[in-house]
Amino acid sequence: MTSTNRSAHTNEEMFVLISTPNLVYRILTPTESGVVFELPEFDPHPAQAPGEGRIQLSFTTMSNDPFAQMKATQREGWAFFAPLELLTTPAAFKLVRFAGVQPGEKVLDVGCGTGVVAVTAARFGATVSGLDLTPALLEKARQNAELAGVSIEFHEGDVEALPFKDAAFDVVLSQFGHIFGPRPSVAVGEMLRVLRPGGRIAFSTWPPELFSGKFFTLMSSYLPSPPAGAAPPVQWGNPDIVRERLGDAVTGLTFDRDILYTPGMSPEHIINLFERTGGPMIKLVESLKSEPARLKELRSAFRAIIDLSYRENQLHQSYLMTRATKK
Ligand SMILES: C[S@@+](CC[C@H](N)C(=O)[O-])C[C@H]1O[C@@H](n2cnc3c(N)ncnc32)[C@H](O)[C@@H]1O
Repeated sequence: MTSTNRSAHTNEEMFVLISTPNLVYRILTPTESGVVFELPEFDPHPAQAPGEGRIQLSFTTMSNDPFAQMKATQREGWAFFAPLELLTTPAAFKLVRFAGVQPGEKVLDVGCGTGVVAVTAARFGATVSGLDLTPALLEKARQNAELAGVSIEFHEGDVEALPFKDAAFDVVLSQFGHIFGPRPSVAVGEMLRVLRPGGRIAFSTWPPELFSGKFFTLMSSYLPSPPAGAAPPVQWGNPDIVRERLGDAVTGLTFDRDILYTPGMSPEHIINLFERTGGPMIKLVESLKSEPARLKELRSAFRAIIDLSYRENQLHQSYLMTRATKK
């Protein structure tokens, strides 16, 4: 008997395929701590196998997450976000202060990107973990932590399946990050699960009626429809929806608003910046390269949204901050 142990996150299914031209074994044994594959006895040199009696073993990971494809696309788009860290850095300070992060507290930054919130919280004296879907940004986050002289554990992962124990953190933060988890109930369930009772959850989000909300809504009108059950990220910018989503699990729900500024020499300068760095915008522009008329239409619709919030060489992006205490 040959056996292989592979750790895997509990919501992922893994299959092992042993294939020769004549047969395929597919064995799956999930356990609580991972997945155990038990391969039956087999003859490594069957008479009918080609390649001078060799058998090819291939290990394939297949996910049962219905949003896996959507998340893979997000991961590719967000990989170019790093230059925008300079814009989100001031907002990170405001979120950390708004959450009341104290020295010694255990803090998680969900959708940490290049670590702007995580590094700020660590500089407040907290013990910080950061998690993000996008490996390229985590690499930059590690460099940023090193530059700041702080030690932070960064994890590649998904807000919908946080790889942490229940009640592991005093504070769970997210700056424009958790909103991209397609199922709000799953994301909020996970963020509250890893938060201790009495701990604080705080996040910054984009109101649908303001610049960034309009920007995401415009983009989604050009992109293929997301899988059924995926909620638009900008819903998280509506205080009524936030109240409903956090529900009875929290107390002391508090909102505040602030503004994030994007400098630009002209509206076109800002359009160009977003087309090079703005997550889903990059893929959208790429996909419209073969349809110049639609690309032109997108750019002029984008320009019209920018015009509403562009003053004194800056785009003014108002946003919502939410804070609550877990019961
Ligand atoms: C707008 S960026 C914000 C990054 C950072 N928090 C900041 O303020 O600069 C959104 C981030 O969410 C991450 N993200 C998207 N979907 C995610 C998911 N399902 N789980 C965790 N992170 C996700 C992206 O990789 C990206 O880093």
